[in-house]
Amino acid sequence: MRRIEDKERELQELLSKLQHDVGPVYWYDTVLSTMDVGFEHSDAADRTVIVADRQTRGRGRYGRLWYSEEGSLYCSIVLTRFDIRLPYSMIAAYGVYRALMRHSDRVKLKWINDVMWENGRKISGVIAEERRQRTVIGIGVNLNNLKFHKKIEMTATSYRRETGECIGVAEFLRDMADEFFSLLAAVDKDGIERVMAEWETDASVRGRAVRIVDSSRELLGTSTGIDKRTGALLLHTEEGDVKVYEGSLFYR
Ligand code: BTN
Repeated sequence: MRRIEDKERELQELLSKLQHDVGPVYWYDTVLSTMDVGFEHSDAADRTVIVADRQTRGRGRYGRLWYSEEGSLYCSIVLTRFDIRLPYSMIAAYGVYRALMRHSDRVKLKWINDVMWENGRKISGVIAEERRQRTVIGIGVNLNNLKFHKKIEMTATSYRRETGECIGVAEFLRDMADEFFSLLAAVDKDGIERVMAEWETDASVRGRAVRIVDSSRELLGTSTGIDKRTGALLLHTEEGDVKVYEGSLFYR
Protein backbone atom coordinates (compact mmCIF):
# COMPACT_ATOMS: atom_id res chain seq x y z
CA MET A 1 0.00 0.00 0.00
CA ARG A 2 2.23 2.76 -1.32
CA ARG A 3 1.19 6.41 -1.40
CA ILE A 4 1.61 8.17 -4.73
CA GLU A 5 2.58 11.65 -3.69
CA ASP A 6 2.65 13.35 -7.07
CA LYS A 7 -0.94 12.25 -7.76
CA GLU A 8 -1.96 13.37 -4.26
CA ARG A 9 -0.47 16.81 -4.85
CA GLU A 10 -2.08 17.15 -8.27
CA LEU A 11 -5.49 16.24 -6.89
CA GLN A 12 -5.12 18.46 -3.83
CA GLU A 13 -4.28 21.33 -6.17
CA LEU A 14 -7.35 20.66 -8.35
CA LEU A 15 -9.63 20.35 -5.31
CA SER A 16 -8.28 23.53 -3.73
CA LYS A 17 -9.75 25.50 -6.64
CA LEU A 18 -13.28 24.36 -5.83
CA GLN A 19 -15.60 26.57 -3.85
CA HIS A 20 -16.07 23.78 -1.32
CA ASP A 21 -13.90 22.76 1.61
CA VAL A 22 -12.27 19.39 1.01
CA GLY A 23 -10.25 17.38 3.55
CA PRO A 24 -6.85 15.74 3.09
CA VAL A 25 -6.20 13.58 0.04
CA TYR A 26 -4.56 10.13 0.11
CA TRP A 27 -3.73 8.38 -3.15
CA TYR A 28 -2.49 4.77 -3.02
CA ASP A 29 -1.26 2.46 -5.74
CA THR A 30 -3.04 -0.73 -4.59
CA VAL A 31 -5.38 -1.31 -1.64
CA LEU A 32 -7.81 -4.02 -0.70
CA SER A 33 -10.65 -1.51 -0.64
CA THR A 34 -10.70 2.26 -0.23
CA MET A 35 -13.64 1.70 2.15
CA ASP A 36 -11.39 -0.03 4.68
CA VAL A 37 -8.78 2.70 4.35
CA GLY A 38 -11.54 5.26 4.99
CA PHE A 39 -12.44 3.61 8.29
CA GLU A 40 -8.79 2.98 9.24
CA HIS A 41 -8.21 6.74 9.22
CA SER A 42 -10.17 6.87 12.45
CA ASP A 43 -9.34 10.52 13.04
CA ALA A 44 -9.99 11.47 9.43
CA ALA A 45 -11.19 15.01 8.92
CA ASP A 46 -14.53 15.62 7.26
CA ARG A 47 -14.30 15.13 3.48
CA THR A 48 -11.05 13.18 3.55
CA VAL A 49 -10.60 11.71 0.07
CA ILE A 50 -9.01 8.29 -0.46
CA VAL A 51 -8.16 7.16 -3.98
CA ALA A 52 -6.48 4.03 -5.29
CA ASP A 53 -5.21 3.07 -8.74
CA ARG A 54 -6.34 -0.51 -8.08
CA GLN A 55 -8.30 -2.48 -5.49
CA THR A 56 -7.80 -6.16 -4.91
CA ARG A 57 -11.06 -6.62 -2.96
CA GLY A 58 -13.16 -3.67 -4.02
CA ARG A 59 -16.60 -4.18 -2.63
CA GLY A 60 -19.95 -3.59 -4.21
CA ARG A 61 -23.43 -3.85 -2.80
CA TYR A 62 -24.77 -7.18 -1.53
CA GLY A 63 -21.27 -8.51 -0.85
CA ARG A 64 -20.38 -8.44 -4.55
CA LEU A 65 -16.85 -7.75 -5.71
CA TRP A 66 -16.14 -4.50 -7.53
CA TYR A 67 -13.54 -5.35 -10.15
CA SER A 68 -10.99 -2.57 -10.06
CA GLU A 69 -8.59 -2.58 -13.00
CA GLU A 70 -6.17 0.33 -13.27
CA GLY A 71 -7.39 3.33 -15.27
CA SER A 72 -10.66 4.10 -13.57
CA LEU A 73 -11.83 5.87 -10.44
CA TYR A 74 -11.95 4.07 -7.11
CA CYS A 75 -12.41 6.44 -4.21
CA SER A 76 -13.97 6.87 -0.81
CA ILE A 77 -14.99 10.11 0.82
CA VAL A 78 -15.20 10.22 4.61
CA LEU A 79 -18.02 12.31 6.02
CA THR A 80 -17.98 13.05 9.73
CA ARG A 81 -21.53 14.33 9.47
CA PHE A 82 -23.85 11.51 10.26
CA ASP A 83 -27.52 11.65 9.51
CA ILE A 84 -28.93 8.20 9.04
CA ARG A 85 -32.03 9.67 7.40
CA LEU A 86 -30.13 11.07 4.45
CA PRO A 87 -29.65 8.85 1.38
CA TYR A 88 -25.98 9.75 0.95
CA SER A 89 -25.33 7.06 -1.63
CA MET A 90 -28.09 8.44 -3.88
CA ILE A 91 -26.74 11.96 -3.52
CA ALA A 92 -23.23 10.75 -4.40
CA ALA A 93 -24.50 8.79 -7.42
CA TYR A 94 -26.30 11.94 -8.51
CA GLY A 95 -22.96 13.77 -8.26
CA VAL A 96 -21.31 11.11 -10.45
CA TYR A 97 -24.15 11.35 -12.97
CA ARG A 98 -23.88 15.14 -13.17
CA ALA A 99 -20.09 14.95 -13.55
CA LEU A 100 -20.43 12.38 -16.36
CA MET A 101 -23.08 14.55 -18.02
CA ARG A 102 -20.37 17.21 -18.41
CA HIS A 103 -18.82 14.77 -20.90
CA SER A 104 -21.78 12.99 -22.48
CA ASP A 105 -25.55 13.00 -22.26
CA ARG A 106 -25.62 9.28 -23.04
CA VAL A 107 -25.58 8.36 -19.33
CA LYS A 108 -28.61 7.49 -17.21
CA LEU A 109 -29.18 7.73 -13.48
CA LYS A 110 -30.75 4.57 -12.08
CA TRP A 111 -32.30 3.89 -8.68
CA ILE A 112 -30.86 3.25 -6.27
CA ASN A 113 -27.34 4.53 -6.81
CA ASP A 114 -26.14 3.45 -10.23
CA VAL A 115 -25.16 5.29 -13.35
CA MET A 116 -25.66 3.41 -16.60
CA TRP A 117 -24.66 3.98 -20.18
CA GLU A 118 -27.64 4.43 -22.52
CA ASN A 119 -27.26 0.80 -23.66
CA GLY A 120 -28.10 -0.37 -20.13
CA ARG A 121 -24.56 -1.28 -19.10
CA LYS A 122 -23.33 -0.13 -15.72
CA ILE A 123 -20.64 2.53 -15.66
CA SER A 124 -20.69 3.53 -11.98
CA GLY A 125 -21.77 2.24 -8.59
CA VAL A 126 -21.83 3.83 -5.15
CA ILE A 127 -21.90 2.30 -1.70
CA ALA A 128 -22.28 4.00 1.69
CA GLU A 129 -21.23 2.46 5.00
CA GLU A 130 -21.76 3.90 8.46
CA ARG A 131 -19.69 3.13 11.52
CA ARG A 132 -18.84 5.05 14.66
CA GLN A 133 -20.67 8.26 13.69
CA ARG A 134 -18.91 8.33 10.35
CA THR A 135 -20.20 7.76 6.85
CA VAL A 136 -17.82 6.53 4.18
CA ILE A 137 -19.06 6.89 0.64
CA GLY A 138 -17.40 4.57 -1.90
CA ILE A 139 -17.51 5.57 -5.54
CA GLY A 140 -16.43 3.47 -8.50
CA VAL A 141 -16.57 4.93 -12.02
CA ASN A 142 -15.39 2.96 -15.03
CA LEU A 143 -13.62 5.69 -16.90
CA ASN A 144 -10.77 4.28 -18.95
CA ASN A 145 -10.55 0.55 -18.27
CA LEU A 146 -11.02 -1.67 -21.31
CA LYS A 147 -10.64 -5.03 -19.59
CA PHE A 148 -13.63 -6.48 -17.76
CA HIS A 149 -13.82 -9.61 -15.70
CA LYS A 150 -15.84 -12.25 -17.54
CA LYS A 151 -18.55 -12.11 -14.87
CA ILE A 152 -19.39 -8.50 -15.79
CA GLU A 153 -18.23 -8.39 -19.41
CA MET A 154 -21.81 -8.25 -20.73
CA THR A 155 -23.28 -5.94 -18.11
CA ALA A 156 -20.58 -3.34 -17.40
CA THR A 157 -18.90 -0.74 -19.53
CA SER A 158 -16.55 2.21 -19.31
CA TYR A 159 -16.57 5.68 -20.78
CA ARG A 160 -13.59 4.79 -22.94
CA ARG A 161 -15.17 1.58 -24.17
CA GLU A 162 -18.24 3.50 -25.35
CA THR A 163 -16.62 6.63 -26.75
CA GLY A 164 -13.00 5.71 -27.46
CA GLU A 165 -11.99 8.69 -25.32
CA CYS A 166 -10.25 8.90 -21.96
CA ILE A 167 -11.15 11.06 -18.97
CA GLY A 168 -8.42 11.98 -16.48
CA VAL A 169 -9.11 10.33 -13.13
CA ALA A 170 -8.05 13.35 -11.03
CA GLU A 171 -10.01 15.80 -13.20
CA PHE A 172 -13.08 13.61 -13.03
CA LEU A 173 -12.77 13.29 -9.26
CA ARG A 174 -12.61 17.09 -9.01
CA ASP A 175 -15.80 17.44 -11.08
CA MET A 176 -17.57 14.72 -9.14
CA ALA A 177 -16.54 16.26 -5.78
CA ASP A 178 -17.73 19.63 -7.04
CA GLU A 179 -21.15 18.21 -7.91
CA PHE A 180 -21.43 16.08 -4.75
CA PHE A 181 -20.48 18.87 -2.35
CA SER A 182 -22.79 21.29 -4.20
CA LEU A 183 -25.62 18.80 -3.71
CA LEU A 184 -24.81 18.45 0.01
CA ALA A 185 -24.84 22.26 0.28
CA ALA A 186 -28.22 22.29 -1.49
CA VAL A 187 -29.54 19.69 0.99
CA ASP A 188 -28.44 21.95 3.87
CA LYS A 189 -29.92 25.06 2.26
CA ASP A 190 -33.14 23.85 0.64
CA GLY A 191 -33.73 20.43 2.21
CA ILE A 192 -33.36 16.89 0.94
CA GLU A 193 -36.83 16.98 -0.66
CA ARG A 194 -35.76 19.55 -3.23
CA VAL A 195 -32.64 17.60 -4.23
CA MET A 196 -34.55 14.33 -4.42
CA ALA A 197 -37.23 15.95 -6.60
CA GLU A 198 -34.49 16.84 -9.11
CA TRP A 199 -33.05 13.35 -8.75
CA GLU A 200 -36.46 11.87 -9.59
CA THR A 201 -36.82 14.02 -12.70
CA ASP A 202 -33.30 13.28 -13.95
CA ALA A 203 -33.69 9.54 -13.36
CA SER A 204 -37.10 9.47 -15.15
CA VAL A 205 -38.42 6.92 -12.67
CA ARG A 206 -42.11 7.77 -12.90
CA GLY A 207 -44.39 5.44 -14.81
CA ARG A 208 -41.77 2.78 -15.58
CA ALA A 209 -42.54 -0.94 -15.45
CA VAL A 210 -39.89 -2.37 -13.15
CA ARG A 211 -38.71 -5.48 -11.36
CA ILE A 212 -36.96 -5.14 -8.01
CA VAL A 213 -34.84 -7.97 -6.72
CA ASP A 214 -33.32 -8.16 -3.28
CA SER A 215 -31.93 -11.01 -1.22
CA SER A 216 -35.36 -12.25 -0.15
CA ARG A 217 -37.92 -11.30 -2.78
CA GLU A 218 -38.82 -10.11 -6.23
CA LEU A 219 -41.35 -7.34 -6.79
CA LEU A 220 -43.05 -6.39 -10.03
CA GLY A 221 -44.80 -3.09 -10.49
CA THR A 222 -44.84 0.40 -11.90
CA SER A 223 -42.67 3.00 -10.24
CA THR A 224 -44.56 6.16 -9.38
CA GLY A 225 -41.60 8.16 -8.08
CA ILE A 226 -39.34 8.29 -5.05
CA ASP A 227 -40.03 9.25 -1.46
CA LYS A 228 -38.37 12.67 -1.22
CA ARG A 229 -37.11 12.20 2.35
CA THR A 230 -35.65 8.72 2.19
CA GLY A 231 -35.13 8.03 -1.51
CA ALA A 232 -37.30 4.89 -1.27
CA LEU A 233 -38.84 3.82 -4.57
CA LEU A 234 -42.62 4.18 -4.69
CA LEU A 235 -44.03 1.14 -6.41
CA HIS A 236 -47.54 0.38 -7.55
CA THR A 237 -48.02 -3.41 -7.50
CA GLU A 238 -51.00 -5.73 -7.93
CA GLU A 239 -51.09 -6.08 -4.13
CA GLY A 240 -51.09 -2.33 -3.57
CA ASP A 241 -48.65 0.56 -3.20
CA VAL A 242 -45.35 -0.12 -1.45
CA LYS A 243 -42.16 1.73 -0.58
CA VAL A 244 -38.98 -0.12 -1.49
CA TYR A 245 -35.81 0.78 0.39
CA GLU A 246 -33.32 -1.69 -1.07
CA GLY A 247 -32.80 -3.87 -4.11
CA SER A 248 -31.57 -4.00 -7.68
CA LEU A 249 -33.89 -2.40 -10.20
CA PHE A 250 -34.45 -3.74 -13.70
CA TYR A 251 -36.62 -2.05 -16.29
CA ARG A 252 -39.09 -4.43 -17.93
C1 BTN B 1 -22.14 -1.20 -6.34
O1 BTN B 1 -22.22 -2.39 -6.05
O2 BTN B 1 -22.76 -0.73 -7.29
C2 BTN B 1 -21.26 -0.29 -5.52
C3 BTN B 1 -19.84 -0.29 -6.01
C4 BTN B 1 -18.91 0.61 -5.22
C5 BTN B 1 -17.48 0.47 -5.67
C6 BTN B 1 -16.57 1.48 -5.04
S1 BTN B 1 -14.96 1.48 -5.76
C7 BTN B 1 -14.37 2.52 -4.50
C8 BTN B 1 -15.02 2.07 -3.21
N1 BTN B 1 -14.22 1.02 -2.60
C9 BTN B 1 -14.85 -0.14 -2.58
O3 BTN B 1 -14.39 -1.21 -2.13
N2 BTN B 1 -16.07 -0.03 -3.13
C10 BTN B 1 -16.33 1.34 -3.55
